[in-house]
Amino acid sequence: MLGLGARAKPNRSANGDDPESDQQQNPVQACHNGGYPDPNGTCPRPFRHQTYYFRAALRYPPRPNLAPTNHTSSSAKPRRVGVWLFGAYGGLATTLVVGARAIARGLAAPHGLLTSTSSAEGVDFIAIDSLVFGGHEVRTSDFLSSAREILAANGTLPKELVDQVAADLRTMSKNVARGALPNAGRTILSIADKGRSEREPLQAQLDRVKRDIRAFQKRLRLDQVVCVNLTSTEPQLKPQAAHRTLAGLKKAIARNAVKAVRPSTIYALAAADLGLPFIHFTPSNSVFLPAVRERFAETGAPYMGCDGKTGETLVKSALAPMFKYRNLRVLSWQGYNILGDRDGRVLSDDENKRSKVQSKDALLPQILGYPLHSHVGIDYVPSLHDHKTAWDFIHFEGFLGHRMVMQFIWQGCDAILAAPLVLDMVRCAELAARRGEIGPMSQLACYFKQPLDTTEHDLHQQWQQFRAWLDRQKTPAAASTATGKRNWRSTRRR
Ligand SMILES: NC(=O)c1ccc[n+]([C@@H]2O[C@H](COP(=O)([O-])OP(=O)(O)OC[C@H]3O[C@@H](n4cnc5c(N)ncnc54)[C@H](O)[C@@H]3O)[C@@H](O)[C@H]2O)c1
Repeated sequence: MLGLGARAKPNRSANGDDPESDQQQNPVQACHNGGYPDPNGTCPRPFRHQTYYFRAALRYPPRPNLAPTNHTSSSAKPRRVGVWLFGAYGGLATTLVVGARAIARGLAAPHGLLTSTSSAEGVDFIAIDSLVFGGHEVRTSDFLSSAREILAANGTLPKELVDQVAADLRTMSKNVARGALPNAGRTILSIADKGRSEREPLQAQLDRVKRDIRAFQKRLRLDQVVCVNLTSTEPQLKPQAAHRTLAGLKKAIARNAVKAVRPSTIYALAAADLGLPFIHFTPSNSVFLPAVRERFAETGAPYMGCDGKTGETLVKSALAPMFKYRNLRVLSWQGYNILGDRDGRVLSDDENKRSKVQSKDALLPQILGYPLHSHVGIDYVPSLHDHKTAWDFIHFEGFLGHRMVMQFIWQGCDAILAAPLVLDMVRCAELAARRGEIGPMSQLACYFKQPLDTTEHDLHQQWQQFRAWLDRQKTPAAASTATGKRNWRSTRRR
C-alpha cells in the first residue's frame, strides 16, 4: 500500500542530532518567525521579542500510526518522489520544473546543485529523473505557457530547451490544482483569478488541499511527496492566541476565523497533517506558528525555512564574516534592491515588503556581534523582469579609527539562482525523511535568510555544517538507518 508521510521511526532530529536534547521545556523567546518562539531564545535584534510557554510544539511524542514507505534497496524498484509546489506556475517553480526535466533528459548539466558536486558523492540522493511535479496555483496557466512567458520576458529558458521538454510540461500541468486564498491580502488577490475568493470555509480549504496532495501521491504511485512553498510573499500575520497551540488553531479553523491564517498556514498545516517534508522558501511569517510546529512534531516530518538565500543576502552572509575576521568595525551597511516581475510587483506593496525587508536585514548584527546602522530598500522596476540588481554600500572603520568604504553590485536572475537550491533541498528533505530524521533541518541553514532554530548566519560556518551532514549520510551507519526503521515498522504493525 502506498502511504502518505512515508517515513520511518523518528529517532533523530533532521540535522542528525538527538531530538531529546533539542527539547525545550522552558519559556522561550519569540523571534523572526513571525514573532513566534525561537527555541534557542537567541534571536538578534531588531526582532520583536515576546515570551510564550511553548512546550508541546518541540516535544516528540510517540509516532502516530502512519502508513509505511517503500525504501530504496538495491533490489527494490527505483523510488518515485513527488514534489508538490505551492505557487506552481510562478517564475521560480516553472524554472525549477523546466530545469529538472532538462537535467533528467540529459539536455542540461546540473549547474548550481550542491547535491551533484563531489562533496555529495556517495550520498544516496534521489535521482532528478525520479521527481514528479505537481502543486497548487491561483492563476489559470500551465507550465508550458509560463515557461514561454519567462522566455519572452527574461530569455532564461531557451526556446529549444522548452520545446524539448514541452510534453513533460503538459503532463505535469495535469497535476496542478486550484490553490487556497484565505486572508491573502489585496495584492495577492489582485494577481489571482477572479472568483477564487475566500468564501470557501477554512476547514474545507484545508481538507481540499490535503485531498489534492493525497490524490497526487496515490494516482502516480509515489513513494514520498516533498512540499515546497513558493507562493507570493504574504503580508505579515500578527501573533494571535489561536497560534499558540494546535488545539487553538484547529478551533479557529473550525469556526472559520479567517484572520487567524494566511494561505501558507493552510499549506504548512496540510503538509504537517499528512506527515510530509516541508520546505518554506518564502519570507511569509504565517507558516511556522507554534501550533503548526506542534503538528509537525506529532507527525514527525522534517521541515525548514525561511526565505531562500540567493542574492544580496547570500553575499552579505559571505562578506560580513571577513570584516569580523579582520576586526574591521562595520558602521553602516546600506543596501538597495531593484527588481521586476510578479514577485517585484507583490513586494511593491508595503505590507508584503515588510516580510522581505525584515528577512534581508536581520543577519548582520548576528554575524558581526554588535548593532550597526543598516537598511534594505526594495523597489519595483517592471522592465527588469526577473533580473535583480542590488547595490550595497559598506562603511567601516580600521586602525586609528580611519574610515573606509566597500561597495558591491550584484546582478542576478532570481529564478536561475533559486531553482537549483530548491532541487537540492528537495533531495535533502527526501533523504532526511527516508532516514527517519525529524524536526527542523538545520543542515539546510546555508540555503536560508532566516534559518529556523539556529543563530548561525555565517555562510562559511553554515557550509561546514552542511558538509558534515553530507559526510554523515555517506557512512554505512546512516545508510543502514532505513533498514532499522523497516524492522521497527514491521514490529509495530504486528
Ligand atoms: N531568488 C528567488 O527567486 C527567491 C529567493 C528567495 C525567496 N523567493 C520567494 O519565492 C517566492 C516565489 O518567487 P517567484 O519569483 O517565483 O514569484 P512569482 O510571483 O513568480 O510566483 C509566485 C506564484 O505563487 C502563486 N500564488 C500566490 N498565492 C498563492 C496561493 N495562495 N496558492 C497557490 N499559489 C499562489 C502566484 O500566482 C505565482 O504564480 C516569493 O515569495 C519570493 O519572495 C524567491
